[in-house]
Amino acid sequence: MILMNDFKAEPQAVRDAMLAAAKRVIDSGWYVLGKELESFEREWADACGLAHGVGVANGMDAIEIALRALEIGPGDEVITTSMTAFATVLAISRAGAIPVLADIESDTGLLSRESVRRCISERTKAVLLVHLYGQVRDMDAWRALCAEHEITLIEDCAQAHLATWQGQVAGAFGRAGAYSFYPTKNLGAPGDAGMLVTGDEALAKKSARLRNYGQSVRYHHPELGMNSRLDEIQAAMLSARLHWLAEFTDRRRDIADAYFSGIGNPRVRPLSRPQEKTAHVYHLFVVNCDARDELQAHLNANGVQALIHYPIPVHHQEPCVDVRLDPQGMARTEQHAKTCLSLPCHPQMTDADVARVIAAVNAFKNS
Ligand SMILES: Cc1ncc(COP(=O)(O)O)c(C=O)c1O
Repeated sequence: MILMNDFKAEPQAVRDAMLAAAKRVIDSGWYVLGKELESFEREWADACGLAHGVGVANGMDAIEIALRALEIGPGDEVITTSMTAFATVLAISRAGAIPVLADIESDTGLLSRESVRRCISERTKAVLLVHLYGQVRDMDAWRALCAEHEITLIEDCAQAHLATWQGQVAGAFGRAGAYSFYPTKNLGAPGDAGMLVTGDEALAKKSARLRNYGQSVRYHHPELGMNSRLDEIQAAMLSARLHWLAEFTDRRRDIADAYFSGIGNPRVRPLSRPQEKTAHVYHLFVVNCDARDELQAHLNANGVQALIHYPIPVHHQEPCVDVRLDPQGMARTEQHAKTCLSLPCHPQMTDADVARVIAAVNAFKNS
């Protein structure tokens, strides 16, 4: 079976580097908030072209902490997409703010600016822009929209590790970027991990306090924070894995190019190509197909795993049924949820695997 992710197939050198990193931490006898975290925070912030990185327990916390550090909370509305991981919206609610869900664009699955405009109210404080599937697009237009309405831009970069748009890295366009290093992400830890990146020193300092019980100096808690620390073993292993990220991302892009040129089945429509070569890191390669469930079953029967991101939009999840939506409806989100399918696109795939996926997609016929 060609899987969506295959960690066991990673090069031995990656495993060796991870084991060496774990050993270094164990030998140091220092497990939380130490040199490994400081060093990975610096490395990741540098990679993002930003001055500050604050390691946290996961990507959802990175969003919540960003909102809380920006003092966006009770009574404030944050507009985002319903076509995302539930964690995006849960983070807004956990910060005490009110999520508002806008519709998407059909050709990319990304948040629609026209829909966001319809959702803006006097209470809107921020747009939480999800770089879904690894795509970064139209950032000038997003910045302009936020500036025009005096609202804060925050980026959910959980799927867009180091995707760049006009030379700038995801996370560097708004006030803060939230990364997840969940195992399946393009840069993944062997466990949970996340980071908030920002160019704003005061925001970084406040976020660092919030992740550690709101502690300013030992035993002083001027505000109520959380326990959301990124531990030393995960930080050390992420530093080790970072050396392979560029090579792995290049491989994802090669696979995507092969899919774009090889998939010729009129029933299966890949999402739009990116605006620039580097503006997509292909966390997921997504196609739309009206007979999606049949296509998924056909691929499975032919030894290809394919998953759906996402079959149930957030506004259909029980805790979110009363969330305010685009007044013109969520038609494109509903349609995408019914038709989208993610094909395997991970860096350990061989050329033969890629050819097998293409052949299986092209062989799909439905009545
Ligand atoms: C778009 C998006 N936002 C947020 C998250 C949350 O990240 P984490 O699982 O690290 O909390 C994820 C990961 O599932 C995600 O894909």
